[in-house]
Amino acid sequence: MQLERIGLRDYRNFEAADIEFAERFTVLHGHNGAGKTAVLEAIYLLNTLRSFRSSDMGPLVRSGTSAALVEATVQDAVAGIPSKLEVRLQKGERSTRRTASADGKVVRSGAKFYGRVRAILFTPEDLAVLRGSPSGRRQFLDRMVFARDRGHIADIQAYEKLVRSRNQVLKREDLSSTARNDLLDTYETGLSEVGARVWTRRVEMVESLADPFATAFAGIHGSIGSSPGGGTAMQASAHYVSKIESAADAREAALKDALAQRRSEDLRRRVTTVGPHRDDLDVRLDDNAAADFASQGQARALVLAFKLAELRAAREQSGQPPLLLLDDVSSELDPTRTAMLFETLASDAGQCVMTTTDAAFIHLPVDSAAATWRIDKGTAAREA
Ligand SMILES: Nc1ncnc2c1ncn2[C@@H]1O[C@H](COP(=O)(O)OP(=O)(O)O)[C@@H](O)[C@H]1O
Ligand SMILES: [Mg+2]
Repeated sequence: MQLERIGLRDYRNFEAADIEFAERFTVLHGHNGAGKTAVLEAIYLLNTLRSFRSSDMGPLVRSGTSAALVEATVQDAVAGIPSKLEVRLQKGERSTRRTASADGKVVRSGAKFYGRVRAILFTPEDLAVLRGSPSGRRQFLDRMVFARDRGHIADIQAYEKLVRSRNQVLKREDLSSTARNDLLDTYETGLSEVGARVWTRRVEMVESLADPFATAFAGIHGSIGSSPGGGTAMQASAHYVSKIESAADAREAALKDALAQRRSEDLRRRVTTVGPHRDDLDVRLDDNAAADFASQGQARALVLAFKLAELRAAREQSGQPPLLLLDDVSSELDPTRTAMLFETLASDAGQCVMTTTDAAFIHLPVDSAAATWRIDKGTAAREA
């Protein structure tokens, strides 16, 4: 898949802009607030029909207007023919309606639209994920799962809704214990069915990334991570952590049992204390929890390694590298690490779109096909 160009109409702060992408690297540079991240957001929208910045689509429509258009020309490497994709956002009274079409035909089911643009996103916020909250790590993981399995997001939403419903019942004081137990039975059956799917996909994602993650970290850390002459390279590993023990094929029953067992405790605490919404991703350096142990540089290298593992796994899965979207990375990494990043990208990525406040941060491999665009107040101008 090759993204050739994108057109933005009344989208975010862009009234009308067209951007062409190079075969390998496209650099978007400009001041803060110029609209760089908005361009990546538009590409991501073509990928997922969602924004990575807001769950409400309304803010994507330019202020003072009622409809936005994001359109793109994409070249399919296998079929060898260009296709035209469009996502329209129409502001309504209560919500914003989105309509996707391919080659002029409206595609009603999201499942039929997904996969035409496949992108992996890396933002500065990701770099803080190891030291942040478990919910941030779950989201980090869920985004990766979603890139592979489009059913995941609907399951997450259904699961979260069921947790809220169960919590409401736990808080109610007007119910007889029979009525309460009946309601809890119903919600717990739903929770364990959907929750087991969420749990399983996350575990499988972490397992499939374990080896490429360790290798990618060794690559990054081995070459730049240690002080001159000091120390042996450390081994990075990642595990999915759940409070519930279960065999891989018995998660639904295990979750149902755990919820039933926790019922009296949960009633006391008025909240659901077990299930995938309480799970975590545990990243380790040798035997140490990375969140407490890793230096700032190591923590960033670990996240970078995770994303590289995702990229490599996605490439292996489909035979083609996905489009890599890098937002503001250079401002967060020191120069050595930045150099390392580009070296790795050059060998691993196919097409890559990156944003920076200063093009001087970016040193692309000399022989690569690249384009540079200046983004300024919702306009885009090609420089090279
Ligand atoms: N719906 C909208 N209408 C008009 N302007 C918007 C809208 N949403 C965001 N903006 C503006 O668009 C810009 C988007 O900035 P952003 O993409 O985050 O910039 P950068 O990544 O270059 O720092 C900001 O200046 C923001 O105020
Ligand atoms: Mg930005």
